Amino acid sequence: MTTETTESRIKIPPELRGERVTLRPLRLFDMFRIIRWLFDNQIRRFFKPILSADNQNWALTLWTRRDTIIFSIWIQGVGSKKVHIGNIGFQEVDFGNNEAEYGFGIGSEENRNKGYGTEALELLLDFAFNQLGLSSVYARVLVNNTRAIHVHEGVGFKQEGELEKIRTPDGLKDVVQFRITK
Ligand SMILES: CC(C)(COP(=O)(O)OP(=O)(O)OC[C@H]1O[C@@H](n2cnc3c(N)ncnc32)[C@H](O)[C@@H]1OP(=O)(O)O)[C@@H](O)C(=O)NCCC(=O)NCCS
Repeated sequence: MTTETTESRIKIPPELRGERVTLRPLRLFDMFRIIRWLFDNQIRRFFKPILSADNQNWALTLWTRRDTIIFSIWIQGVGSKKVHIGNIGFQEVDFGNNEAEYGFGIGSEENRNKGYGTEALELLLDFAFNQLGLSSVYARVLVNNTRAIHVHEGVGFKQEGELEKIRTPDGLKDVVQFRITK
């Protein structure tokens, strides 16, 4: 069964399966874990400021905006149980220009640096280019987020444009935009 969003031509599959990572459409129930992650030091430092720049009420818009498609990131836990470790998805799909901004985060440090973020990003790009029909995907990254920059460059994103400043609850921050085309 597929989930249909309000954008009638989008069919969201129930799972996007990789070698170690599975993406599933985010459910309301998953929010309990996400709220906990919002207190994580790295999420507060690198993830929240970018979202807050555009949208103070990010969490409330996840199920209401028709251009938002968010997946939860799952890995194999003990036995047959899968564990939700983060989220990845498009805050705004621009179907007019066939492009989308995306964001991702692994909720706690114990699950970072294990290749899960990279694999989740590769699954999302495959979905974007081969199922959504997008021709490019971009991300804004804080310039001091060297790990995220490394991941983007490793997957094939290229920096575009100049550094920009965004207004965040913690003041002005430098961001750089990365883009990958199909
Ligand atoms: C950014 C993030 C999603 C990446 O996911 P991840 O699972 O940790 O990343 P991976 O393990 O797939 O890859 C990490 C890569 O960065 C490298 N790396 C780790 N720390 C680094 C650092 N400080 N500077 C540069 N590279 C670094 C690792 O060696 C690895 O590279 P490799 O694959 O070439 O060996 C995750 O770290 C995260 O959630 N961070 C906090 C929130 C955030 O920054 N979100 C992104 C906002 S744009």
